[in-house]
Amino acid sequence: MNQRMIVVSNRLPIAINQVGNDWRIEPASGGLVTAIEPLMSKNKGTWIGWPGCGDEAPFDDLASSFSAEHSYQLKPVPLSESEVEKYYRGFSNEALWPLFHDLLGNCNFNLDNYLTYEAVNRRFAQVTAEFSTDDDIIWFHDYQLMLSGWYLRQMHPNRTIAFFLHIPFPSPDLFRRLPWSKQLLRGLLAHDLIGFQTLRDHRNFIHCVTSLVEGVEVVTSHDKHTVLRCGEHYIKAGHFPISIDFNEFSDSAGSKEVSKAAWHLQDNYRQRQLFLGIDRLDYTKGIPERFLAFERALEKYPDMRQKASLLQVVVPSRTMVPDYIDLKRLLEQLAGRINGRFSEQGWIPLHYYYRSLDPIQLLAHYRVAEVCLVTPLRDGMNLVAKEYCASSNDNQGILILSKFAGAFDQLGKHSLQVNPYDIEKTADTIYQAFSMSDNERSRRMAQLRAQIQSNDVHRWLETFIATLGNNPETMPRRPEKHLVELNSILAT
Ligand code: UDP
Ligand code: G6P
Repeated sequence: MNQRMIVVSNRLPIAINQVGNDWRIEPASGGLVTAIEPLMSKNKGTWIGWPGCGDEAPFDDLASSFSAEHSYQLKPVPLSESEVEKYYRGFSNEALWPLFHDLLGNCNFNLDNYLTYEAVNRRFAQVTAEFSTDDDIIWFHDYQLMLSGWYLRQMHPNRTIAFFLHIPFPSPDLFRRLPWSKQLLRGLLAHDLIGFQTLRDHRNFIHCVTSLVEGVEVVTSHDKHTVLRCGEHYIKAGHFPISIDFNEFSDSAGSKEVSKAAWHLQDNYRQRQLFLGIDRLDYTKGIPERFLAFERALEKYPDMRQKASLLQVVVPSRTMVPDYIDLKRLLEQLAGRINGRFSEQGWIPLHYYYRSLDPIQLLAHYRVAEVCLVTPLRDGMNLVAKEYCASSNDNQGILILSKFAGAFDQLGKHSLQVNPYDIEKTADTIYQAFSMSDNERSRRMAQLRAQIQSNDVHRWLETFIATLGNNPETMPRRPEKHLVELNSILAT
């Protein structure tokens, strides 16, 4: 790719923390950062986003030492406390996040929060305009920034602007409950290419646009993308399942450092069969349901006792959102109850850790776990599922995967499939994994690994950019009147 890439996401790929008198810069958590970071390291572009810290942090110094090491630039969009409260916590994480994960009951719709979302999206567009040119590819990411492309288009009609949604896109029936649904669709339609994780998300979006916005027509439908027309403005929408750098995970998992850490870990768990869960603390991840299914398996299949343990790592996330605070409390109660009920001398059934893991520890956990439980109620993709398989160099891991994770479309066939709401059947599947022969494990895992290896994050990027068809020679320049027309169609 010859053009410079400007990635814009709510959060920069870093977390800045004060330890004593020192400031430390660490990688931020979540699938967006895992997927995009290796691409940026190669592309030498610019990443624009919220630094997640206050003015007291020496951002400029930290960012320049980061850029020297990672060969791409970081540009901050600072947010005030009230903006964090209304745009990030209120609208992004209490309205869009639950709605897009089909959890209407967790939604809180509030006009003031929406207006702040608009204002912050406009500011992201202004900062992006400042650091980009018409020759760059500008790529907005995720639900926090669905309107920024629209504001940028008003300022610079000829910029190449793409968008990728990392989370699911809901059905029209759900989406129309949002009082500002049309505004968000209008925002998305200002991009040149809108990417989704799965065919289902892509179809939901097309259904929403065609049923909720007048004046937009479907021009052609290809295998992986649809071309829409709004006046003289053509928009592509498609599905591009995001992935990981398979070789990087697989090679690092086999390194000496990881092997040593894995050996220690195995020793701690005394060779018991280890079931692993690694998730941000989030109510979409189905962690309470997973605990209940593990409890039911211990109840129903007593031969698992003493021989199997569940190790659940919960990475702190969105700690100021009330539903997340409640979930933490619930998990602690459940873990206490299950351990109180089943623990025996020398064996703890459920090891629960509320913390993040450094990369060596993360890979060591993947290597040591015989089974990985990825059981979200709904998930855009779920990269933990792919990372676990990529790290299973000996082909002995088993993936238990929810039918409601985006990753299911690619990995469902060779994993053990579950409906996380069905506690009884999930318990049976846990036992099926516990009893699976080495031959079957290795047959399934070899297929999973081959799938991920041939569809890694580099292929994802190539496919996305090829669909964008972005070549300065062939890209039509838009006369001003097209923008006026686009605005008038979408304003109705
Ligand atoms: N992860 C992390 N810190 C940890 C444990 C995991 O950053 O302590 C990473 C993990 O490796 C994965 C990401 O967080 O890349 C989670 O991505 P996923 O798509 O599974 O879910 P998301 O958090 O984006 O909803
Ligand atoms: C998911 C979202 C990302 C988000 C990440 C971490 O992966 O798709 O957009 O950055 O979670 O959440 P946070 O709210 O801490 O940025």
